[in-house]
Amino acid sequence: NRIVVLVSGNGSNLQALIDSCQTGRIRAEIVGVISNVPHAYALERARLANIPTQVIDHRKYPDRAAFEAEMSRVLQEWQVGLIVLAGFMRVLTPAFVNRFSGQMINIHPSLLPAYRGLHTHARVLATGDKMHGCSIHFVTAELDAGAIIAQAITHVMPNDTLETLTQEVQELEHHLYPLVVAWIAAGRIALLGNKVYLDGQEL
Ligand code: GRF
Repeated sequence: NRIVVLVSGNGSNLQALIDSCQTGRIRAEIVGVISNVPHAYALERARLANIPTQVIDHRKYPDRAAFEAEMSRVLQEWQVGLIVLAGFMRVLTPAFVNRFSGQMINIHPSLLPAYRGLHTHARVLATGDKMHGCSIHFVTAELDAGAIIAQAITHVMPNDTLETLTQEVQELEHHLYPLVVAWIAAGRIALLGNKVYLDGQEL
């Protein structure tokens, strides 16, 4: 399975995936990393791991279609099998999403379907929820709404702050993303319609 990771920022999830490929926990290869942000630290992480990188700066394209056409071209060139969004901060058009349907996953820092969109930790604190976490889902045209593959939960404590909660959820992400990518690489996950199966069992 040939994996391409799409990033925009720090790339701590990318790092967790790189590490898991190196230890053999994920039996697949990250064949490339694409960033829409030229100076994202994630690119540095990829370079340190000798993974090919490509910057596709959305600001240099007239519209989303042109930006995504270039992404499609690179993904095809790398013969991608699985696209992993890891802190990739561009909304993708239905045309692009549908083209890679069942082949593209995202990690989102909330217990979906709660808190789609941005600033999830602050919203959880403001609401006073007792539980929070992260979700990994197949990407569909509707933002943060695709079929969920796995979630990890943390309890929100009275003394939690934006910083502690962000860190706790990120730690969960760094465990959960490699686990799910390992399942997919091993052929254990199937998406049929909008239902997800692990080892043939509906989740
Ligand atoms: C993660 O919290 C992820 O859930 C969200 O963006 C963040 C990316 O962090 N989509 P990193 O770039 O992987 O460190």
